[in-house]
Amino acid sequence: MSGVVVALDGPSGSGKSTVGRHLATTFHLACLDTGAMFRAVAWGCLADGVDLSDHAATERHARDLDITMGLDPDDARVWVREHDITTEIRTDRITTAVTEVATNLGVRAELKRRQRAIIEAERTGGYSGGHGILAEGRDITTVVAPDADVRILLVAGEEARLRRRALETLGRDDAEALEATRALVVTRDQRDSTVSQFLTPAEGVTPLDSSTLSLAETLEAATALVTAGL
Ligand code: C5P
Repeated sequence: MSGVVVALDGPSGSGKSTVGRHLATTFHLACLDTGAMFRAVAWGCLADGVDLSDHAATERHARDLDITMGLDPDDARVWVREHDITTEIRTDRITTAVTEVATNLGVRAELKRRQRAIIEAERTGGYSGGHGILAEGRDITTVVAPDADVRILLVAGEEARLRRRALETLGRDDAEALEATRALVVTRDQRDSTVSQFLTPAEGVTPLDSSTLSLAETLEAATALVTAGL
């Protein structure tokens, strides 16, 4: 029997990492954070002195880069060569640089190839022992795994997403904190959405709007969607 594939997309601050980890743990799946792969390419290029605005050089570097993705939902580590970059890829420096990488179509093609290989391996064996995988990102439901068993687009209104990110990164959600967060959330999503469509659900993709839901309610609704889809 082949393992299951759950595809989960959404904009920044929609809560998809938390929801993804929860679903993977609940259904005994491996968990692939594809955003972390784009971040790893950005980290590797900056570490090796590659100019990210040179798209051909960045694409070449991405093809050769030794990236290892941990698939444990409770401890998703990321390595480039021997460097554990799990924490470093969350810094503003990488969050700002990653858009240049994500809008590079050559890099997208290379990462799509790697993501599909990981998903295929988890269907029959791999980290999950063949249970399957949850992959989360921006284009999993549409491009990377359009044939996934369950496809969910997690959405939330702009204010809710700003508030969550501000609390997560700055520990407060006053007006100043919201403004400081806006560039890293709204502007990034606008630029990202020029290369992948994740603001509205594609045909056959189930939307889940978490704007007015608590975290517990969101997790419950997402779990129900996966249960119904398997
Ligand atoms: O989800 P996260 O914020 O870590 O993603 C980092 C960046 O990677 C996003 O801003 C987006 O530019 C890019 N990305 C993407 N396609 C995906 C996942 C992430 O373009 N499937």
